[in-house]
Amino acid sequence: MERAWTFDDMDIALEHGLVQAYRAGNAEDTYYSADPALLEDALTTVALGKNLLLRGPTGSGKTRLAESLAARLRLPMESINCSVDLDAEALLGFKTLAVEDEQSVIRYVEGPVVRAMRRGHLLYIDEINMARPEALPILNSVLDYRRQLSNPFTAETITAHHQFRVIAAINEGYVGTAPMNEALKNRFVVVDVPYIQGASLAALIERQSELRDTDQIRLFTDLSSDLVAAVRTGEVSEEAASIRALLDACDLAAHIPPLRAVRRAIAAKLDDEREQDLVMQLAAGYFGVDRG
Ligand SMILES: Nc1ncnc2c1ncn2[C@@H]1O[C@H](COP(=O)(O)OP(=O)(O)OP(=O)(O)O)[C@@H](O)[C@H]1O
Ligand SMILES: [Mg+2]
Repeated sequence: MERAWTFDDMDIALEHGLVQAYRAGNAEDTYYSADPALLEDALTTVALGKNLLLRGPTGSGKTRLAESLAARLRLPMESINCSVDLDAEALLGFKTLAVEDEQSVIRYVEGPVVRAMRRGHLLYIDEINMARPEALPILNSVLDYRRQLSNPFTAETITAHHQFRVIAAINEGYVGTAPMNEALKNRFVVVDVPYIQGASLAALIERQSELRDTDQIRLFTDLSSDLVAAVRTGEVSEEAASIRALLDACDLAAHIPPLRAVRRAIAAKLDDEREQDLVMQLAAGYFGVDRG
């Protein structure tokens, strides 16, 4: 039977001293993949100090994968999201007035990028394709192999701690996304993160949702592959196939009728009524007619 792999299964002996025998802790926080090569390639890339770009549709587990990698490498993670307005201050920090020994002093508060570089944390850059033009020079220097950044707020040059690592994510679905700046993309090793399906999805539902009924878990797994197919053909929008939404539906279905769970957790979020109907039709094929 196909199995769901995690970093706990990966026994990669890299000499960089970063990858140690480390059990990533609780199963709820672990990223699962049917493809051990995906984990091996991601872990190798980051352990070698190269920038990793995770590319996949919404709710495919990109953030979870980055968290799992951080846990596996024992690196605290700092996150920034480029879809919110990220200016230099949000990245690098700011100056503020403080009182020390009854005197007013100007203190510099580190932003996430500076903190990660200085302390050797893992920097997770979400939705990097949405980065504003003024953030690009900063991101470019962070991603550059020299790992140096001149900080306009303190007029110093920061050289990153040797354990500093970068993972970015781009929400690239089946229906196109804002393209990513080429110079940025060029600085990454790219790993595609697809929706997990079949037996490994069933294993994920079993471990991460409240649903215990194995027959229902199988039905939700089958529904998920129908939804992924419908997204691929463009019949429904991408959110319909999100594993995040599916897990919500499974949690609910442990307590309320499954069709109602699908309606609330998956269908109702879609803007288009025809898309909602299609999702409910697919679900009715597995769970019968709606009584709720
Ligand atoms: N392969 C997987 N292994 C473990 N958990 C997963 C996996 N795929 C999805 N999930 C679950 O789905 C939820 C959404 O995952 P996550 O937030 O990592 O997705 P994402 O790809 O970062 O989505 P977005 O692009 O919307 O930010 C998580 O809570 C996680 O539990
Ligand atoms: Mg995410």
